[in-house]
Amino acid sequence: MTDSTPAPYGGAAPAAARKPLTLHRLRAMRDAGEKIAMLTAYDASSAALLDASGVDCLLIGDSLGMVMQGHTSTLPVTLEHVAYHTACVARGNRSAWIVADLPFGSYQESVEQAVRSAVTLMQAGAQMIKLEGGGWTTPLVRALVERGIPVCAHLGLTPQSVHALGGYRIQGRDAQAAATLCTHAAELDAAGAAMLVLELVPSELAARISADFRGITIGIGAGRRTHGQVLVLHDMLDLTQGPKPRFVRNFMDGAASIADAVCRYVRDVKSGAFPDEARHGYVA
Ligand code: KIV
Repeated sequence: MTDSTPAPYGGAAPAAARKPLTLHRLRAMRDAGEKIAMLTAYDASSAALLDASGVDCLLIGDSLGMVMQGHTSTLPVTLEHVAYHTACVARGNRSAWIVADLPFGSYQESVEQAVRSAVTLMQAGAQMIKLEGGGWTTPLVRALVERGIPVCAHLGLTPQSVHALGGYRIQGRDAQAAATLCTHAAELDAAGAAMLVLELVPSELAARISADFRGITIGIGAGRRTHGQVLVLHDMLDLTQGPKPRFVRNFMDGAASIADAVCRYVRDVKSGAFPDEARHGYVA
């Protein structure tokens, strides 16, 4: 088969021209005020398309339990599931930065369990692992960072705690809850977390945390003043059936193709046109 022969069953898209993203380059983008565009990815074909469309970071989120497996929460997702999808994404990707979720039950027991689980995902192709929660996770983050594993923390609405939080609700609305989130963010920063997802928190609070956090903040339903944005791919492509969160925009609306929709997402994140603060921000 020559280079110009299409691979059977689609295959991966042609390699993107850009250089592989590193943590160093992502930090430089943040320092230069360039917004970082992240989307979830679970398979090789979409990873190749997202990468070729300019998405900076691919997240193998445990949202795969809902969008790929049809569960009503992320709780049934196992480490083996995430490792499998991470390996698929890594095969399709050329240059985007790959972040994989530690699923529920894979890090709650001990530092040792968290390290073992993170090693599994890094060996599957992740370049950074993400874990949910603050306070009790700080020693885990420190241990992972000390062992050379880049960490993305996740605060606000943490879907693995959906039952404890009483549903998919906005977090950090009152002064005390906001102060706790700020404290947790500062502790995670001091422990070495290089990235922080802020989910469903008021825009003002996300802006405050982003101003103090030394790494990169990525918002989802957290307004536009974070250093980057993330959406679940199936939500922004309008593949998800039923009601979607208020902050989701359907990028297929007016797009000529999936690749066009993804390019529009990247363009709008970079320009600040997404999210729309009035519709997507949650001002306390
Ligand atoms: O699992 C996931 O996809 C996530 C994002 C929504 C942030 O954690």
